[in-house]
Amino acid sequence: MQKNILVTGANGQLGKSLQAIAPMYANDFRFHFTDVEELDITDCGAIARTMEETRADFIVNAAAYTAVDKAESDVEKAYLLNETAVRLLAEATKKNGAMLVHISTDYVFDGTSEEPYRPDMQPNPISVYGKSKWAGERAIHEVGGRAVIIRTEWLYSRYGGNFVKTMLRLAEERGVLRVVSDQVGAPTLAGDLARLILRVLECEERLDGVSTYHFSDGGRATWYDFACEIIRLSGLPCPVHPISSQEYPTPATRPNFSLFDLSKTIKDFNFDIPDWKTSLAQEFPHIYHNHKNGIR
Ligand SMILES: NC(=O)c1ccc[n+]([C@@H]2O[C@H](COP(=O)([O-])OP(=O)(O)OC[C@H]3O[C@@H](n4cnc5c(N)ncnc54)[C@H](OP(=O)(O)O)[C@@H]3O)[C@@H](O)[C@H]2O)c1
Repeated sequence: MQKNILVTGANGQLGKSLQAIAPMYANDFRFHFTDVEELDITDCGAIARTMEETRADFIVNAAAYTAVDKAESDVEKAYLLNETAVRLLAEATKKNGAMLVHISTDYVFDGTSEEPYRPDMQPNPISVYGKSKWAGERAIHEVGGRAVIIRTEWLYSRYGGNFVKTMLRLAEERGVLRVVSDQVGAPTLAGDLARLILRVLECEERLDGVSTYHFSDGGRATWYDFACEIIRLSGLPCPVHPISSQEYPTPATRPNFSLFDLSKTIKDFNFDIPDWKTSLAQEFPHIYHNHKNGIR
């Protein structure tokens, strides 16, 4: 029998990536895609009604406050979406005997680790966004019930705005790029995260309580490396120069080191993680097409 998945924030990068792969999972799952117009995750009554209407077995929370720099001055809204609303979703899933899949971030860490971050390492966020996402994770633990928290990083896709589209735009506008080369992480295709989420749901019977996993694409990069690869794939005649974070001040401080230890994710879900360059090369023609045609 098909199980019902209620997806929140379905018009974001991850939400649209889930919509794109949903037909491949139609034998096992019935998807109910909602964004703020259909389900505002800060509205407790709306969550209860939508859960009842959709008979949700799972909520996949792809909604969030994701404007990292804006969050520094928009603290209340960041916490409303990333903590308060997450608590409401956790309470509703618990009450209905459902399971919550929630997405968190590498920004819960301070980036001072010398080894890739494992899910059991102690968070210490250094930005409002990171603190609000960590508060959301803690809220899920406080509520209890069944939940999977998947931390991810450096998301991009053909949908919405992201680093890849920004680099293409700036390369065309300026003809030269200066990109931070002292922050290390792993670019992650939102479609790869979407596939991992479906894999988690396929394995849900093995999961109990609240568990945390890390997910990124494989390999490592700096933002500078990422930009170089984007420009190489685009064929644009645009030199890319490395700069330090100090030369590119932003309202929010970013962690210098965001690499994840992925071994628990690979082992528990038997999931094959592609290298970031492979995923970027596959997605790039679609990103470029959407960029050229102003498709978000
Ligand atoms: N992007 C990254 O690099 C990155 C890195 C690490 C972790 N993550 C996490 O990954 C998840 C997905 O990120 P994403 O990049 O796909 O985010 P996104 O593109 O910003 O999508 C979030 C979606 O949530 C919607 N939303 C906002 N307020 C809402 C509300 N009250 N009720 C329901 N929906 C609402 C947004 O609508 P509007 O656009 O109209 O506001 C948007 O469609 C998030 O949890 C994020 O924290 C992202």
